[in-house]
Amino acid sequence: MSLIEVRNLYFRYNSSDRAVNGVNLDIDKGEFVCILGHNGSGKSTLAKLLVGLLEARKGSIKIDGIELNEDSVDEIRKKIGIVFQNPDNQFVGITVKDDIAFGLENRKVEKHEMEELIDKYSTMVRMNEFLDRNPEDLSGGEKQRVAIAGILAINPEIIIFDEATAMLDPKGVGEVMEVINSLKSKKTIISITHNLNEAIMADKVIVMNEGKVVLSGKPNEVFENIEILKNSKLDILDSMKLLEKVDNSNINLKEEVKTALWELTYQK
Ligand SMILES: Nc1ncnc2c1ncn2[C@@H]1O[C@H](COP(=O)(O)OP(=O)(O)OP(=O)(O)O)[C@@H](O)[C@H]1O
Ligand SMILES: [Mg+2]
Repeated sequence: MSLIEVRNLYFRYNSSDRAVNGVNLDIDKGEFVCILGHNGSGKSTLAKLLVGLLEARKGSIKIDGIELNEDSVDEIRKKIGIVFQNPDNQFVGITVKDDIAFGLENRKVEKHEMEELIDKYSTMVRMNEFLDRNPEDLSGGEKQRVAIAGILAINPEIIIFDEATAMLDPKGVGEVMEVINSLKSKKTIISITHNLNEAIMADKVIVMNEGKVVLSGKPNEVFENIEILKNSKLDILDSMKLLEKVDNSNINLKEEVKTALWELTYQK
């Protein structure tokens, strides 16, 4: 039995769209899964269905053997934490500290332990100097980091990061990716992105296009399907672009390949 089982899942916002259009998924405990897809391919909708924020029109979701429905949604939410794409929608506290504390208070964590957890995770995301600030007065990237600290502090079994690095600068992306990677094999992670580079480290890559899963497998298996990736409007890795160019050229010697790669790199 997989930790997350999605069968024949359908959802639409209105009569004309097909936001999630017949999705099947299996995610094992401890897996690091990357969901790739262009804008509007249904990634965030799928994430919201998984945590019961939206209700499927058809199909089923099982988490840890429990079927998601009205009766089980509270139990399931204890198992899954989600860092939303837009951090503005997820603040509840007057200060950053209150905000990180919120989930812990809900879980009735003791005051002393709460202080330790807030300190540990705010330091991990480099927001420990901002604990007394109003979350609304932070930059997008800072808000994103506070949201990540809040989720890490409550320590759920499964964490969904919905484009958690989209608002960060390169240093911030590196730091958050480091935090996400450090959770690898300790937690079940679903990382949603449109950046293939972030998917290289995943155990499993799932590619979505128009509400459907069009590819699923290990990164090297999925990345072989260049045409499907391009048809799914994804930007293939720079190295893949170079390999394509080498493929289409008539180079066969090592030195020639090296020279050609340099030339291709700087080719306008
Ligand atoms: N609240 C909403 N009401 C109506 N349609 C919506 C709503 N949210 C999303 N959609 C539509 O559902 C489809 C899937 O959207 P979704 O947000 O799941 O895509 P996504 O893959 O997360 O895209 P992005 O990469 O831009 O975040 C899109 O066509 C979108 O326009
Ligand atoms: Mg989205």
